[in-house]
Amino acid sequence: MLIQLFMPVPTRLMALKHGATLVWGPEIVDKAILHAEREVDRRRDLLLSFHISTDFFFFLIYIAVTGVISYNGKTRAMFTTHPLEKPYLIYQIGSADPELAVQAAKTVMQDVSGVDLNCGCPKPFSTHSGMGAALLSNPDLLCGILEALRRELPREISVSAKIRLLPTQEETKKLVERIARTGVNAITVHCRTRNMRPRERALVERLREIVEFVHELGLDVAIVENGDCTGRADAQRVRELTGTFNCTTHVRYSLIYCSGADSVMIATAAESNPSCFSLTPLHDVESTLIPPYLRLCQYLDNHWSSTKFCVTQFKGIHSELSKTDMHELKSRIAKAKRYEDLQDIVGGWTGEEEFKEIMRAVEARPPRIPAGAEPGDAAEEEVPAPCSTPPERANPEPPSSGAPRIGLRMPLPAIITGSNMISPTPTPGGMH
Ligand SMILES: Cc1cc2nc3c(=O)[nH]c(=O)nc-3n(C[C@H](O)[C@H](O)[C@H](O)COP(=O)(O)O)c2cc1C
Repeated sequence: MLIQLFMPVPTRLMALKHGATLVWGPEIVDKAILHAEREVDRRRDLLLSFHISTDFFFFLIYIAVTGVISYNGKTRAMFTTHPLEKPYLIYQIGSADPELAVQAAKTVMQDVSGVDLNCGCPKPFSTHSGMGAALLSNPDLLCGILEALRRELPREISVSAKIRLLPTQEETKKLVERIARTGVNAITVHCRTRNMRPRERALVERLREIVEFVHELGLDVAIVENGDCTGRADAQRVRELTGTFNCTTHVRYSLIYCSGADSVMIATAAESNPSCFSLTPLHDVESTLIPPYLRLCQYLDNHWSSTKFCVTQFKGIHSELSKTDMHELKSRIAKAKRYEDLQDIVGGWTGEEEFKEIMRAVEARPPRIPAGAEPGDAAEEEVPAPCSTPPERANPEPPSSGAPRIGLRMPLPAIITGSNMISPTPTPGGMH
């Protein structure tokens, strides 16, 4: 499962901890990043050196560095990231100009793994200057930007586009084919048209024909579904809605292959609960997610207003917490003006423990396939096989079992990581 959030660094790190495969940064317009200055946060980098009498001994003590990287504009940070998320981070560009898009991508590429062109935002601030969903009716420009990005960026940086459904299937397929032929690694399809409102049901079933069409073209491009997916468990529904099950008999194996969307992108559900990427998402977020999240934000020096906004969006299933406790906590947060006002909730920890836990979870993940990996590359060899079922087994074999690959569309595009988590059998190590 390939996932995104358009949220700040701590939320993205939490999502990675809980099983998100990839994370997207918020859309940033090309010009906004061009003159930003890159700065690594070393404010807590306290170097103490003790010279003992004769200068024979030096003790160097480093105290935690947040390591957060900011691209600072004149008045504020335009983009922030943490090195920990780099292998999983996609930078999203708003652009209507190939040259500016390339310059913007080059500005940040040392800190990200991929670049995505936003062609789906219907808001006037985006469309009035030809960006976002306006690109859907200007495919020459849209594809020109993608071609320029693919041509100018190193292969290990993936290039992708996020579009919306067009009014008809034929129009959508035509556009998808043009985009796929630019050499992009992935296309995310938000299954709503430009004129549909967010509250209208996403037309996920329309993607099936598009997925089949792209498979028939034989192009090495991943199709990512977006719209109304509520979490990892729900991703299976999306795969079934967007795919067809094929069963073929190999010399030794029966192969069951569901040709649905390669991945699912989640925004709203992840904003409510970044642990939705796990098969066992956190319940009672007020007691299970909010305190560690606050500690992490404090540790990373995340701006209080951003932290507060994110925390007020968190919600989920309640199994133990009473409504009174929940309301009390929410009203405390609503009144808080800084981290210190919630110290009794945050507790005595510095947040370093949360950060280290995330670090351990991220390091335990299967390695990513670098973009541009060729068949036979060592990294490519680490790609787990898609679900395939030996005859004596009812359920698909875990990808690590050594069962044969289907081989239809392998290697997966670079944007897909080392685990095909949308498959009915999650990759070991992919879930937390
Ligand atoms: C808080 C929030 C921020 C978003 N920011 C972006 C963005 O920066 N770029 C983008 O392409 N879509 C953005 N979206 C739209 C989502 O990517 C997605 O297309 C839409 O919400 C439908 O998916 P969902 O049903 O999972 O929410 C955002 C959505 C939310 C809820």
